[in-house]
Amino acid sequence: MTVTSPRTPAVASADQLSTAAEHTGPLRVGLLGCGVVGSQVARMILSRSDDVRARVGRPVELAGIAVAHPDRPRARLPQDLFTADAHALAARDDIDIVVEVIGGIDPAYELIMTAIEHGSSVVTANKALLAAHGHEIYAAADAHGVDVYYEAAVAGAIPIVRPLRESLVGDEIRRVMGIVNGTTNYILDKMTTEGVSFDRALSEAQRLGYAESDPTADVEGYDAAAKAAILASLAFHTRVRGTQVHREGITGITPEDIQAAQGMGCVIKLLAICEMEPEGVSVRVHPALVPQEHPLAGIRGANNAIFVEAREAGHLMFMGPGAGGSPTASAVMGDLVTVARNRARGVAGPPQAIFGDVPVASMGTVHTRFQLSIQVSDRPGILSQVASIFAKHGVSLQTVQQSALEGAGKEDGWSATLRMVVHETRESDFEACLAELAGSPIVNGEPRFIRVEGM
Ligand SMILES: NC(=O)c1ccc[n+]([C@@H]2O[C@H](COP(=O)([O-])OP(=O)(O)OC[C@H]3O[C@@H](n4cnc5c(N)ncnc54)[C@H](OP(=O)(O)O)[C@@H]3O)[C@@H](O)[C@H]2O)c1
Repeated sequence: MTVTSPRTPAVASADQLSTAAEHTGPLRVGLLGCGVVGSQVARMILSRSDDVRARVGRPVELAGIAVAHPDRPRARLPQDLFTADAHALAARDDIDIVVEVIGGIDPAYELIMTAIEHGSSVVTANKALLAAHGHEIYAAADAHGVDVYYEAAVAGAIPIVRPLRESLVGDEIRRVMGIVNGTTNYILDKMTTEGVSFDRALSEAQRLGYAESDPTADVEGYDAAAKAAILASLAFHTRVRGTQVHREGITGITPEDIQAAQGMGCVIKLLAICEMEPEGVSVRVHPALVPQEHPLAGIRGANNAIFVEAREAGHLMFMGPGAGGSPTASAVMGDLVTVARNRARGVAGPPQAIFGDVPVASMGTVHTRFQLSIQVSDRPGILSQVASIFAKHGVSLQTVQQSALEGAGKEDGWSATLRMVVHETRESDFEACLAELAGSPIVNGEPRFIRVEGM
């Protein structure tokens, strides 16, 4: 009787892998995409071929490059490698490893599945695709006994996928909290250090190439949500999709919010937070106040950083460039060398270990702290009326600061701003408290709030 493990290839790839082990000839790479990242990957494969050969034990050869516009001139890359037919390149039986750096879902999903079905291992930097279809891709790779590596998909050059997938796999991860979008970190940092508006900081980010002409994916938190889904899946060994992540962007952050944060000894960061709650995995992306002494508060410009809390290892911090052609290509090359080594030895790397189906906790069940500001009139008894609304919803006040109101609202008799920090509370209780404050005649307009993390 033959006992098959879940990693036993279902089709021809077992033969291909064992045959590969006997060979000493080159391992052949099909590169899908040759833009910001792909052009740097191509450059590194060609210019670092001796080092790569020494590290892998066999030459690694660039066999073809698929792009949308094959006739566009590409500096220092052999024109005869280019093709417009990505599907044919992904399906070539003489290709060992397909590197996908096209981005998006369509046609990347189809191309990666085709490559896997033809026995190729895959390296990708595509967070949007993995957050939407990662689990189908990992299952197909397992079934065909090939590798799927994606270090560059979460935080560019920063090694975080491999540490979660391999180094920390024997520990218990309690929380992963990170700055995983460089564009929004650049904007918030600029607003903090120069006091400029969101719009001004965004224009500067666009001028410097940190933000796209359509910045929605970054500033509305979609990019960070896709990365959070990948991080949560890895940290908690369960399936989380990008659409299950609670997401808020930074477009509503004002210079006044930044100033108020500084007054509290904090900075505002867009955070991706993954943690295990009693109700399931909580995965969220939103702006938050972070105390200035927290390691994430010091992350400047377009850098990324990820703070991991593990039961045995304690607190670990990973930081560096989260994007850019060369830094991202470095992570892709790390995966390429690893996958090539596996192919050269006729093995596949460790399985994904994403096996669970833990529910994703709704935002209402999350426990966190908040900072809240409301406009009130400076009359005796107002503070106790506000406090009684908090008490009714079981929300406990940690600090209250009153300041004279400036600007809009003053002429109508609203004379004070109350800025309060509440102790850790269940989000649904805080929301109920917020709704009652918003409807109360003692409060002018909508209360403003922001979550507080890392205190
Ligand atoms: N840029 C970064 O800093 C960064 C950081 C981390 C991760 N990533 C990820 O890396 C991936 C690539 O990003 P990028 O910035 O390098 O993108 P990009 O500059 O827009 O490059 C995309 C490439 O894909 C090619 N392409 C588009 N549609 C195609 C099709 N149907 N068939 C074949 N080729 C096609 C384009 O061809 P043409 O050249 O002919 O137009 C181009 O070479 C994305 O998943 C992204 O999320 C990027």
